[in-house]
Amino acid sequence: MPRSIIAGIGMYVPENVVTNNDLTKYMDTSDEWIQERTGIKERRYAHRTNETTTTMGVEAAKIAIERAGITAHDIDFIVFATLSPDYYFPGCGVLVQRAMHMKEIGALDVRNQCSGFVYAMSVADQFIRSGMYKNILVIGAEKHSFGLDFTTRGRNVSVIFGDGAGAVVLQPTEEDDRGIMSTHLHSDGGEAEILAMYNPGTHANHWKDGLADFDEAEIANMFMSHQMIDNAQLFPNMDGQAVFKKAVVKFPEVIMEALDKNGYQPSDIKVLIPHQANLRIAQFVQQKLKLRDDQVFNNIQKYGNTTAASVPIALCEAWQEGRIQKGDLVCLAAFGSGFTWASALIKW
Ligand code: UT7
Repeated sequence: MPRSIIAGIGMYVPENVVTNNDLTKYMDTSDEWIQERTGIKERRYAHRTNETTTTMGVEAAKIAIERAGITAHDIDFIVFATLSPDYYFPGCGVLVQRAMHMKEIGALDVRNQCSGFVYAMSVADQFIRSGMYKNILVIGAEKHSFGLDFTTRGRNVSVIFGDGAGAVVLQPTEEDDRGIMSTHLHSDGGEAEILAMYNPGTHANHWKDGLADFDEAEIANMFMSHQMIDNAQLFPNMDGQAVFKKAVVKFPEVIMEALDKNGYQPSDIKVLIPHQANLRIAQFVQQKLKLRDDQVFNNIQKYGNTTAASVPIALCEAWQEGRIQKGDLVCLAAFGSGFTWASALIKW
């Protein structure tokens, strides 16, 4: 069975740099608070009308495809991970197929938030291993800036997130000492609402109130209503501390799972690319696994948390900086809303 290699990688971040001080114009926060609690100094925000999650994904994809030495016409499957799609439906995958004038290939959207890219890559890896496809485009992209509460009420969430995109092209290789060695996917929906955007949705408050009868007026307002807008119910919700506590347990666990499966130790990792959720989480994981500074790549300082885009953006930057060479052991790991968490071990 062939393994998959990352044949090309690309990233795109919008030009517009938004500093922590810029955010103080809209909400009661400070550069000091944000840096101390998250490590973030600045993030990028997409152009409000000229850039979407899909267009950023396409820009990253163009680079990945060129670096793979192929054309968009050679791509035979798309997997697109995002929590901020252009449309409620259809997904961004088909919009990439259209924008890049690709053949009538399959396009799949993955909705696994911060773990989305690792999940998407795992799905693509299975298609490569089974021999079904030869050139799979995997994209993680987000335009968070369009959907955040920029008042003080939403500051615990809004200061963290940024926009951007990353993409890879997966291809099969017959070399048995290279490629994606294994991927590990997990979920626990027991606390799904701890980090979630409930509306618009079809939940009808079942998770809160149980099955219930509502009158027609209430039902009419359940999917989308003026009340939701007035009460800021169309923004993401997060219990940050609860997420933090779970993340610092699950990150090391899923990294060790990947290492154990392949007979490696943390000291064998050349570069760990953790999902860029919070610099403090990455530092905790580094400490727990006794990794040196040069073994962990972080760029949250510049881009904030870009959810499904964070792993491919960080992987791309690490590679562009020469931190990853052929034969190096690279570990990707992510944790986020769902909860979902995942890892991938790659011999580059
Ligand atoms: O990628 C998706 C997964 N998400 C994560 O992994 C996020 C994990 N969680 C975190 O990163 C942290 O919990 C946060 C950075 C979100 C928050 O940091 P914290 O140290 O957990 O702060 P907190 O929510 O406990 O809030 C502490 C205080 C509160 O004030 P009081 O009640 O102590 O007076 C907040 O109102 O900080 C206040 N606060 C802020 N102050 C200034 C919350 N957000 C801000 C802000 N600026 N932006």
